[in-house]
Amino acid sequence: MLDFYGWTYDACLGPILSKTRHWMAAYVREKNLFPVLDLCTGTGAFCRIIGGGPQHSVWGLDLDGRFLRYARAKAPQIPFIQADAGRMPFPDSVFGAVILSYSVHDKGSGLRTAMMEEARRVLCAQGQILFLDFEMPWDRASRIGRVFTYSIERLAGGEHFRNSQQFMRAGGLRAFLALSHCIELESRSLPWGNSRIVAARFRE
Ligand SMILES: C[S@@+](CC[C@H](N)C(=O)[O-])C[C@H]1O[C@@H](n2cnc3c(N)ncnc32)[C@H](O)[C@@H]1O
Repeated sequence: MLDFYGWTYDACLGPILSKTRHWMAAYVREKNLFPVLDLCTGTGAFCRIIGGGPQHSVWGLDLDGRFLRYARAKAPQIPFIQADAGRMPFPDSVFGAVILSYSVHDKGSGLRTAMMEEARRVLCAQGQILFLDFEMPWDRASRIGRVFTYSIERLAGGEHFRNSQQFMRAGGLRAFLALSHCIELESRSLPWGNSRIVAARFRE
C-alpha cells in the first residue's frame, strides 16, 4: 500500500517539479553520469524518471522510512537505502553524479558540511553534483516566487523552516556553492520557483 505521507508530498509538489526533474534527468543521460545517487530522495520521484536498469543505474537514499516505503512501492526495481546523508554506506568513488534536489536548504550547517564531504567521497574523479535549491531573488518573477516558496517553507515549519531561513540569510545556493568549493559547470534559473539548477564539480 502507498504511504499517505509520500502520496501527499508527490500530489502537491510532483506536478510543480516535474519539468525541472525531467531537465535534470536529461542532463544526467546526456553526460552519461551513471550510476547516479539521488541524495535525500524523498518520494524517489527523480529516480523514477531515470528509471533504473543496467544502463541507467540509479540509487535513492533518505532517512525517512515513510518516504522510503512510498518510493519502494512505486519503483521496486530501484534500490532505496535508508541512511544518514552525512554518513553514507557506500564505498569511495562509485557514483558519476550526486543529485541534491531541495536537499540542502532544510539541513543544519553541520549536516550540510557532512553531506558535502560524503558527496565528494562517493563521486568518481569526473563526477558531477547537481543542485536544485533556493536562490536569492534576482528579478521580479523570482521575488514573487520567493513569496510562494517562503509560504511552503513556513508550512514545513520547525527546524526545516529555521534552517531554510538561515540558508537564505547566508546567501542561498550561490553562496553555498562557493562555501563548498564547487565549480559551476552549467546552470538554469527557475524564477517562479526562486530556484536554480546548478551542475558543478568539486575543486581539486
Ligand atoms: C525537502 S525534501 C527533498 C526531497 C526530494 N529530494 C525532492 O526533491 O522532492 C528533504 C529530504 O531530506 C531528507 N532528510 C532529512 N535529513 C536527512 C538525513 N540526515 N539523511 C538523509 N535524508 C535526510 C528528508 O527525509 C526529505 O526527504
